[in-house]
Amino acid sequence: MNTTFIRDGIYWIGVHDYTTWLFEGMWPIDQEGVNYNSYLINDDKVILIDTVKEYMAEEYIENIKSIIGDKKVDYLVVNHMEPDHSSCILAVTNEWPDVKIIGNKKTFPMIRNFYEYNKNFIEIENGQKLDLGGRELQFFLTPMVHWPESMVTFDVQSGTLFSMDIFGSYKATVGSIFDDENEVETFLEPTYRYYATIVGKVTEMAKKSLEALTPLVPSISMICPSHGLVWRTDPNYILNLYIKLANAEVDEGVVIAYATMYGNTRESAEIIADELRKCGVKKILMYDVSRTNMSYILASIWRYQGIFLGAPSYYGQILPSMENLLYKLEGNKLRNHVCGFFTDFSWSGGANRVFDKFIQNTGAYCPGEMVNVQGYPNKDDEEKLREMARAVAQKLIK
Ligand SMILES: Cc1cc2nc3c(=O)[nH]c(=O)nc-3n(C[C@H](O)[C@H](O)[C@H](O)COP(=O)(O)O)c2cc1C
Ligand SMILES: [Fe+2]
Ligand SMILES: [Fe+2]
Repeated sequence: MNTTFIRDGIYWIGVHDYTTWLFEGMWPIDQEGVNYNSYLINDDKVILIDTVKEYMAEEYIENIKSIIGDKKVDYLVVNHMEPDHSSCILAVTNEWPDVKIIGNKKTFPMIRNFYEYNKNFIEIENGQKLDLGGRELQFFLTPMVHWPESMVTFDVQSGTLFSMDIFGSYKATVGSIFDDENEVETFLEPTYRYYATIVGKVTEMAKKSLEALTPLVPSISMICPSHGLVWRTDPNYILNLYIKLANAEVDEGVVIAYATMYGNTRESAEIIADELRKCGVKKILMYDVSRTNMSYILASIWRYQGIFLGAPSYYGQILPSMENLLYKLEGNKLRNHVCGFFTDFSWSGGANRVFDKFIQNTGAYCPGEMVNVQGYPNKDDEEKLREMARAVAQKLIK
């Protein structure tokens, strides 16, 4: 049994997932875990806000019963259909067959497609309010943040925004779900990582949704996202952080991400780092893309202004571990970054052409020339690498 009373009849009935290795099949969560936060409003009517991942269904249903006893669940609000939140829908409808499901017109086809369930739907529109036995809920569509049917729910009485994936983070909450009982800074990197991996691609839509929610902000006293902490004391902390994330506002610092088979490209990376130090750059994060899961690199790139990407040529192309990163970066874009590129090769290159195309596609801002090293960097290469590092360093915020 693991539920937490929040306030105003609202309970947290989420679960901690320490079992899944890769979230969405790509992003490691085995070290820190993740929360699937579901909420219950126990008033004249019983209202569920989202569910949890299916493999925890039994515990989830028991948790609900431990709060409501013989009462039944009257409504289930489906803010988001990604299965980390929707795959207990059938567990709920099996237990309480009369439950009414609240969603928008994009929600219900997905419920049919995923779960072959097709009844008791209540369709809401953007901004609509529903009086559910004296408890007034208002709904706001947040399309493509990060699915078409995504929406958020505002409980007027308590001023609570049930914000779905928005304002969420990786990292399971240990002991307490509340912001004021946690060191919120420990959720900063997991929030960046969540944003860069899940929301980054649709950051323009996130910006639009945040703007649309702006008039609501003065009435928000608490934010309850689907992952991470419940912001009951300082919702402005996560609001402001998310505005910064959505605008891809960068911090002072440089990320050097390289791929290598035999170490030549790493040597170039070391030269760049050395020159950056000489230019007074203190925050430098160095990643071998074959060793570090891409999610951590994407998070750092979302956060820091300076970016160097380096890789060897590989059969006329680029080493696949770097190509993978470029694929995600093309989605996330390099909006406010200052970039440098370096490659290694032995005969006719390849990585240089892939980087050229990437720069073209993303419009990456490169104040220096790309450096293409043949084999081990010689004196001439070293000078070019240092020159590129200085060109980038000069453009960095201090
Ligand atoms: C499987 C393989 C494929 C390669 N393909 C190319 C290529 O298409 N063009 C090229 O110029 N060099 C190619 N190379 C050479 C490497 O890019 C070159 O040795 C480089 O110095 C390796 O850098 P590293 O030490 O950082 O791994 C290839 C090397 C290997 C092992
Ligand atoms: Fe999601
Ligand atoms: Fe989610």
